[in-house]
Amino acid sequence: MLKPSMKTCTVVSYFVLFLLFVIAVFFVAYTGYKYIGAVIVLIAVATAITAYLTFARLIKPIEEMISAAVKMAKGMLEIEINIDGNDEISKLASSINVLAKRLKQNMVSINEERNRANAILKSMGDAVIALDRNGCIIMINPAFEKIFGVSTKKAFGKRAIEVIRSYELDSMLRAVIKNRQPVDKEIKILLPSPKEFKIHATPLVGDDGIMSGVVALMRDITERKQLENMRNEFVANVSHELRTPLTSINGFLETLLDGAVEDAEVAKRFLGIMKKETDRLTRLVDDLLKFAKLADKKFVLNKQKIDINEIANQAVQLFTPRAHEKNVKINLNIHKSLPKIEADKDLLMQVFINLIDNAIKHTPVGGVININIDFDNDVAKVSVSDTGPGIPINSIKRIFERFYRIDKSRNRDDGGGTGLGLAIAKHAVELHGGKIWAENTGKGAVFIFTLPYNNIEKKNKT
Ligand SMILES: Nc1ncnc2c1ncn2[C@@H]1O[C@H](COP(=O)(O)OP(=O)(O)OP(=O)(O)O)[C@@H](O)[C@H]1O
Ligand SMILES: [Mg+2]
Repeated sequence: MLKPSMKTCTVVSYFVLFLLFVIAVFFVAYTGYKYIGAVIVLIAVATAITAYLTFARLIKPIEEMISAAVKMAKGMLEIEINIDGNDEISKLASSINVLAKRLKQNMVSINEERNRANAILKSMGDAVIALDRNGCIIMINPAFEKIFGVSTKKAFGKRAIEVIRSYELDSMLRAVIKNRQPVDKEIKILLPSPKEFKIHATPLVGDDGIMSGVVALMRDITERKQLENMRNEFVANVSHELRTPLTSINGFLETLLDGAVEDAEVAKRFLGIMKKETDRLTRLVDDLLKFAKLADKKFVLNKQKIDINEIANQAVQLFTPRAHEKNVKINLNIHKSLPKIEADKDLLMQVFINLIDNAIKHTPVGGVININIDFDNDVAKVSVSDTGPGIPINSIKRIFERFYRIDKSRNRDDGGGTGLGLAIAKHAVELHGGKIWAENTGKGAVFIFTLPYNNIEKKNKT
């Protein structure tokens, strides 16, 4: 059915009322006040009909639209106003329906975007912090919460300095807000635990060019820095260790060239020393290569079932002539029912060699070395004890560090070690999941290492 427009409806209803009024006036003027009551009733009925029409066509739809708008303001976007006709009110209602639909679509995509951003921030390993233009925290991600031990709830609205006690970071973020320029910096933050961060802070500037704050990405580079330091230290140590014998060789060569070569006895003695230094250099390079091989993350153990008793026996055989020479006794106490273990035979042999070599070096003439092989709580336990000077208590942990030697001037019969033997042994044992440590027995030093059996081995044992 074709419905008149709102404007037509209103004009017609007022026109009808006006017409009725004019007719009433003429009627009264013509008939006198005889029918005044009937005229008033007639006008009242006509007004009521007009009022109803106005209510039905104008007020009711407007009420419906007000209720819809209120619902929209409350976030209830599932509304649909019934549209009846094609008048102005219906057009307005249809526009409200479209508005609600668009708003709902926008809300959905905003939510999706927010969820995506949250998921990214959550999965990031780097800490992220965002401040508003007044320097107050508006967001931190879970990595930040974890690293600095602070919750979003506690950090929100606070200044960066109140959450991270770092003046350097605080002034960096303030500078970004002030200068509207990104800044990259490496900063050490001491609390809750000393850590070093590479920080990239960028101003938050909207499309309208208005600055709304700053966001900083903080990458924990503590481990990388430590590795860098270790590498530098290692290079410095290696250079130093190489330089010492080379300087010595160079010195003797110069003396020989300066004429000492003429004296056959002196020349022979110098050449002997130079040979010792060259041997030392060769040993150092060999040990460095062994060490580098073990420290390489890609190193794979060549595991096979081996008998520790047998390996120990072979290692002792190797040192028997040297022990005889020095009149040092080596006792090997094996564990007869020791089950075989899965291990890298060559590496295990290297551990025995390094420990027995040290024991012979440090045991005085006439001393005793005891090698005990035992089985304890699912681990094979090996100890190598000697009757040497023992290890000073402050060096007991450090002797496993690369190039660490207790007393470089200690008189020894080998022309000086490289200080890498125990570091190699430690790496080798740890690659097998075992532990190695040193103790003082009162009579000398004892080095103990353990090797765990895996589950298959445990089953075989019983
Ligand atoms: N049995 C021991 N008794 C006393 N001190 C020891 C013993 N074993 C090792 N040390 C001390 O620990 C230091 C480190 O030993 P490590 O085996 O790593 O190096 P090194 O024996 O000096 O050299 P390398 O073994 O590379 O030839 C030694 O220099 C020595 O001072
Ligand atoms: Mg050694």
